[in-house]
Amino acid sequence: MLKQWISTKEPYPVYVGSGLLSEAGNIFTEEFSELPKKTVVIISDSNVAPLYLHQAENSFRNIGCNVHTYEIPAGETSKNWALLGQALEHLAGLQITRSDCLVALGGGVVGDFTGFAASIYLRGIPFLQIPTTLLAAVDSSVGGKTAVDLKAGKNLAGTFWQPRAVLCDTDVFRTLSSEIFLDGVAESIKYGILRDQNLFADILNGGFQSRCASIVSRCISMKGEIVSEDEFDRGTRELLNLGHTFGHAIETCSHYQVTHGHAVAVGMHMAGIAAKRLGVCDPTCSGTITDALLQLGFHLECPYSPDDLYRVMLRDKKRKGNTIDLILPRSIGDCVIRPMPIADLLSCLQEQ
Ligand SMILES: NC(=O)c1ccc[n+]([C@@H]2O[C@H](COP(=O)([O-])OP(=O)(O)OC[C@H]3O[C@@H](n4cnc5c(N)ncnc54)[C@H](O)[C@@H]3O)[C@@H](O)[C@H]2O)c1
Ligand SMILES: [Zn+2]
Repeated sequence: MLKQWISTKEPYPVYVGSGLLSEAGNIFTEEFSELPKKTVVIISDSNVAPLYLHQAENSFRNIGCNVHTYEIPAGETSKNWALLGQALEHLAGLQITRSDCLVALGGGVVGDFTGFAASIYLRGIPFLQIPTTLLAAVDSSVGGKTAVDLKAGKNLAGTFWQPRAVLCDTDVFRTLSSEIFLDGVAESIKYGILRDQNLFADILNGGFQSRCASIVSRCISMKGEIVSEDEFDRGTRELLNLGHTFGHAIETCSHYQVTHGHAVAVGMHMAGIAAKRLGVCDPTCSGTITDALLQLGFHLECPYSPDDLYRVMLRDKKRKGNTIDLILPRSIGDCVIRPMPIADLLSCLQEQ
């Protein structure tokens, strides 16, 4: 088992390894000694619950916790106010107190939903993350961003609320479809492009097949490093948006039929081309990114016109007045935040 700490204001441990789920209760108790006395509510979704809820429940029961479970429908549409309200009412009905604990067992949807519920129920109660998708493991379970969606867009209402601990059992990735696994691969290779050329190379050389826990752990440590530099997203954390400004536009244009990681992969390819045209990176760098993404199995054609993407990007919540920040690679392992005037954005898209 690999263990590391995320250095936010309240530091917390992240455990990664194979076969951890059935030991989750014991492992969490190592650093969270009050856990066995608590009532825990495990929140999961309708795909994950039949596969893993029983194991998780037993592991908490075995250490003495009083365990309740709560299931939400699988899918992004569960990140809504109405369902969040129902979950909060349910917690109140169970008389959950501030000294109890929520557990998110699922992908990013369950993690964001549970984290948000934990952050506002009784003005904040502890929660634990057990990510079950690769994307949730390397990205959403660490960093404390919680959210639900509004009609106007995704993740428009939320809080910063860090988990007490995160446990990732890499065995659960076996039941993911290859498409959903690839979503997480996109976020993982992103860390390599951002800050670590060895990680980039190791992922390309089949790291997920041969040393999954180690690769996941390195991705988490990269996310932890960036989050601890900027817990509340006022500066360097923006680097994590590599590929996301273009990617979000693609997701929106597709009405979310293109999944997040696949859209981000196309977005990173586009960021590489933009960096080359703007003279930010050397010419080989953008080709290296594109080849890597193709090798990993992504399709990089963008089915939307520059005009369509431009219209959506104007509404991007990361827009700052007349500029929009693009994260551009200088080389593999080194990226910069480059404000692009809105006036130049359309031609940048047309040059893709
Ligand atoms: N908080 C953050 O910092 C952050 C970062 C990135 C993404 N997100 C959010 O995360 C969400 C996307 O996360 P996701 O890609 O994990 O989506 P998801 O939670 O919807 O999971 C994808 C699908 O896989 C299923 N699933 C999960 N684990 C499984 C397993 N082990 N075996 C079989 N099926 C399984 C789920 O039921 C779902 O159908 C979005 O809502 C996004 O906004 C948040
Ligand atoms: Zn992302």
